[in-house]
Amino acid sequence: MSTFSHLTREKVMECLKRVNEPVLNENIISLGLVHEIEVDKARVFLHMENASSDPGVRNELTEKIKSVLGEAGASHVEIHFSGKPKCGMGGQEAEPLSGVKHVIAVSSGKGGVGKSTAAVNLALALKKLGARTGLMDGDIYGPNIPIMLGIPSDRRTEPGGSGKILPIEAHGIRAVSIGFFANPEQPMIWRGPLLHKTVQEFLHRVEWGELDFLVVDLPPGTGDVQLSLAQWVRVSGAVIVTTPQEVALADVRRAINMFRQLEIPVLGVVENMTGPVFGRGGGERVAKDFQVPFLGDIPLDAEIRECGDAGVPIVAATAGSGTSERFIKIAEAIRQAFYKNDNPSKTRS
Ligand SMILES: Nc1ncnc2c1ncn2[C@@H]1O[C@H](COP(=O)(O)OP(=O)(O)O)[C@@H](O)[C@H]1O
Ligand SMILES: [Mg+2]
Repeated sequence: MSTFSHLTREKVMECLKRVNEPVLNENIISLGLVHEIEVDKARVFLHMENASSDPGVRNELTEKIKSVLGEAGASHVEIHFSGKPKCGMGGQEAEPLSGVKHVIAVSSGKGGVGKSTAAVNLALALKKLGARTGLMDGDIYGPNIPIMLGIPSDRRTEPGGSGKILPIEAHGIRAVSIGFFANPEQPMIWRGPLLHKTVQEFLHRVEWGELDFLVVDLPPGTGDVQLSLAQWVRVSGAVIVTTPQEVALADVRRAINMFRQLEIPVLGVVENMTGPVFGRGGGERVAKDFQVPFLGDIPLDAEIRECGDAGVPIVAATAGSGTSERFIKIAEAIRQAFYKNDNPSKTRS
């Protein structure tokens, strides 16, 4: 074979970039699953991390790797998987965030369903219930949190005492967003490793202090930020936001499956924009299908948008209004889930 003599570490790396982890559907190099590559003429030795507890997944991965390397001219491929199976990419195995009792991911299958609106209002609702709350804007492609919290676009974070970054405080919660670091007019182009590092910095280099909840507003879908979050920190649970329509629901199913794969408990589904325009009931249906709690619905209500645009989210703007009460009820259900989970017989070791 002509490629036979050209097998190098770089070439192997290039080949492995074309191999996707079957469940997460992301290449094994970006996922950081390949720890060591050794090439001895046409023989390749790989040291890999055990990403899944499922032997079927591992076999499939092994087959794919052997096949791409075989095509590139490898005569022999040996793969060592190490570490105990991680049961997903992080969840169980990742360390808790120091000082923070619960990291809660707010996620959705697609964009524009009101995920950031829900994340901000739920964070404020948790705060109203007496919890110390932080909000991390994990949507580093399109950060919305600064506007929603009314933080001026030129406001920047400041260093804290210990060389860490201080979050910016607004409406009684501490927040961090890429919008506090970058010019909002400039598009942000992310390369995998930089993105992964940014998520790490937001978690571990920010002085969050003592928090009961750190709410993370994730970008839509099942991408890099979700995986990075699960790798860097133990996530206590995920809240899935959807609109009532079927189009959004197919994506919701994917999102729920991703969290299951990552071994992050799904706390439940919130249906947003319920009412005559988009209908109602889809969120409850999908929750039932997946046997996760339905946390409640939030009506399509112009005031929610106006409040978001004005930088005073509805929960902060109007006490006792029907809509803010709904957010508070959902926050109560989330908090309640942890009282149950804080029962020693249920906590993860
Ligand atoms: N229940 C609602 N009623 C009216 N407008 C809403 C509602 N939820 C969200 N919005 C508006 O819809 C737009 C998209 O919401 P956003 O939270 O940014 O979505 P996502 O984060 O999912 O992309 C925003 O302008 C927001 O103010
Ligand atoms: Mg958003």
